[in-house]
Amino acid sequence: MGLSFSYNRVDQETVSLLKSAIGKNNVSSDEEKLLSYSHDEVPSSAYEGTHMAELLVFPETAGHVSEIMKIASAKRIPVTPRGAGTGLSGGALPAFGGIVMSFEKMNRIIELDEKNLTITVEPGVVTSEISKMAAAHDLLYAGDPCSGDASFIGGNIAENAGGNKVVKYGATGAQVLALEVVLADGTITWFGGKRRKDVTGLDFTHLMAGSEGTLAIITKAVLKLLPLPRHSADLLAAFPDPETAIAFVPQIIKKGGIVPASIEFMDQKALSLAEKYLNYPVPAGEAGAALIIQLEGNDPEILEKEYEKIGNLSKENGAYEVYVADTRTTKERIWQVRKAIPEATSFFYSRYTKEDLVVPTDRVPDLLGKIRDICSAANLEWVTYGHAGDGNMHCTVIGPPADNWHEVLRGVQEKIYSAVIEMGGTLSGEHGIGFKRKSDMKLFLDRKQIELIKRVKLAFDPDNILNPGKMVEWDQ
Ligand code: LAC
Ligand code: ZN
Repeated sequence: MGLSFSYNRVDQETVSLLKSAIGKNNVSSDEEKLLSYSHDEVPSSAYEGTHMAELLVFPETAGHVSEIMKIASAKRIPVTPRGAGTGLSGGALPAFGGIVMSFEKMNRIIELDEKNLTITVEPGVVTSEISKMAAAHDLLYAGDPCSGDASFIGGNIAENAGGNKVVKYGATGAQVLALEVVLADGTITWFGGKRRKDVTGLDFTHLMAGSEGTLAIITKAVLKLLPLPRHSADLLAAFPDPETAIAFVPQIIKKGGIVPASIEFMDQKALSLAEKYLNYPVPAGEAGAALIIQLEGNDPEILEKEYEKIGNLSKENGAYEVYVADTRTTKERIWQVRKAIPEATSFFYSRYTKEDLVVPTDRVPDLLGKIRDICSAANLEWVTYGHAGDGNMHCTVIGPPADNWHEVLRGVQEKIYSAVIEMGGTLSGEHGIGFKRKSDMKLFLDRKQIELIKRVKLAFDPDNILNPGKMVEWDQ
């Protein structure tokens, strides 16, 4: 299904129309701002060509978003919705220029409904603000992406962000009950509602989760809340090697008899990079690999028994040391190490490929083994860490100091992808396809599935003006 689309540039008339529709303070063509709003965490220099916004808009209401879309669709100008820019797949990159729509002014928490256990928010609310507001009412918002202190909820939903608590609570999409959206032609509508069951038609609410801003623009979200667990403890189990650590993961749930909120894995390279970056000795910094296991509960005595059980199980399964963090400071120390890893790899290296692989949880040991074999055979260093409990492993392969490092990394990447496919795994667990991974989609999905993605996209957005250039390649 090869198709091509043509777009118009933002002209003076468009700027004037937008200014009178949403106010001149909500429209900007400031050069510096255009530059900084034209990429996410993947720098635009990572891609060939220039991908620069021509105009920035800062809507304050769904009505504003609707007006912008009416103008953009009449003029056939691409619109790229943008959250906080913490994405890791070039999802917020204005691939064809046009308008970048930032949600920083739509940042209100609209309602916390204690009877229905929901919170209704605008897309520009910082994720951790939702958790804080919920916690102030003894409630839990269970979405927990690593970038939660900066990321916006709209971006989390559009990317179906995962993070550290997916093993127990599911990814962001699982927290969503309803969405107010603006369609490409400017129509405002609601998908879902404050209801726990709904088979009235197709499940558009959850189709939005992970649609990367290509189908509709989220202007409000109703999210589920749960009772806030009163206590939690983080276990940091140090193992002599990655194989032993990862082989223990399936035992935790089955033999431990509980589903931890998090089961995170860090290999030795990840631990030592985090230590170097944080510049202080970190717990288990010397370990061959480590697991963080987070347990939650309401009764401190029961919780203590449970972490003793998991601690003993860890030792029976090869851990040589288990640290228990049950105070705020000790917990923060452990999570600081885990959260520093992606930043540390970007800080110390400039040639790498950052992967977001996911395999069935029982295949994680095989995946780690394959990564080790493939990287060692190519004489390359690598870092593996991530969400062992749900099978989502982040793997960063470090490029060699040679001119052809792109080629070398691509070769390694292709071998790793073949292994992942053979294991029933896939390309991205939580970072998304965006601009970065779209050319690899054909390795993981068959032609028919890619065509279906395109048909769904065109049903929502016939002129392909919403975040074009993402997820799939149209010229094939
Ligand atoms: C993490 C981000 C990179 O898990 O997804 O640290
Ligand atoms: Zn992650």
